Amino acid sequence: MVAKITIAPDVFLWREKFSPRQQKALLDDVLARLEQAPLYRPVMPNTGKAFSVEESNFGALGWVSDKSGYRYQPMHPVTGTPWPAIPPALLALWDEINAPPTPECCLVNLYRTGAKMGLHQDRDEKDTSAAVIGVSLGDEALFRIGSAVRGGKTASVLLASGDVIAFGGTARLAYHGIDRIRPGTSRLVPGGGRLSLTLRRVRPKKRPPAGGPGARCALNSA
Ligand code: SIN
Ligand code: FE2
Repeated sequence: MVAKITIAPDVFLWREKFSPRQQKALLDDVLARLEQAPLYRPVMPNTGKAFSVEESNFGALGWVSDKSGYRYQPMHPVTGTPWPAIPPALLALWDEINAPPTPECCLVNLYRTGAKMGLHQDRDEKDTSAAVIGVSLGDEALFRIGSAVRGGKTASVLLASGDVIAFGGTARLAYHGIDRIRPGTSRLVPGGGRLSLTLRRVRPKKRPPAGGPGARCALNSA
């Protein structure tokens, strides 16, 4: 059992939740899936400025950014094919931390030397009832998280390989980002750097069919 550390209200950290052996197994699984859905470099909406990270996705829906905006889509923007499935080890992690249903998106970010991620909210999801879960592999990163208010107080935490972070509930829309990575602090990722795997629910869960088990009687509930 790995201890659950509270970073801020509804922000939790598990240090080395994935053991070195599990990190290697997960990395190998991720790299194999990235052969089907290669990392590419997205650009910012409007400006078209290139991200400093490279990205890909696993799952039914992938998060993408291009000149027309941010969105979720079922196809890889470069290859035009569906995203590979989410690795089983990550689905198991989700089940341990969040309730069903399973995540629809696993965003993959690769941070090489100098890459970072500005403070932002994860708010392109129509369903924000489940926590966002992030897994770190490779080099250490300085992660910053605040509240749902821009410019509010923030906390910094060093994320190392195998660490897992989760923010949900009152922190689901918290601003967060990666100030920088610390190159050379891990030898896990081929070519160096850090991979982050971010799991999210995107669409609201389907309601049970009207009149089915559990359906409410409109008259009685009035
Ligand atoms: C993200 O917020 O998209 C990624 C955060 C991380 O790399 O840990
Ligand atoms: Fe994010």
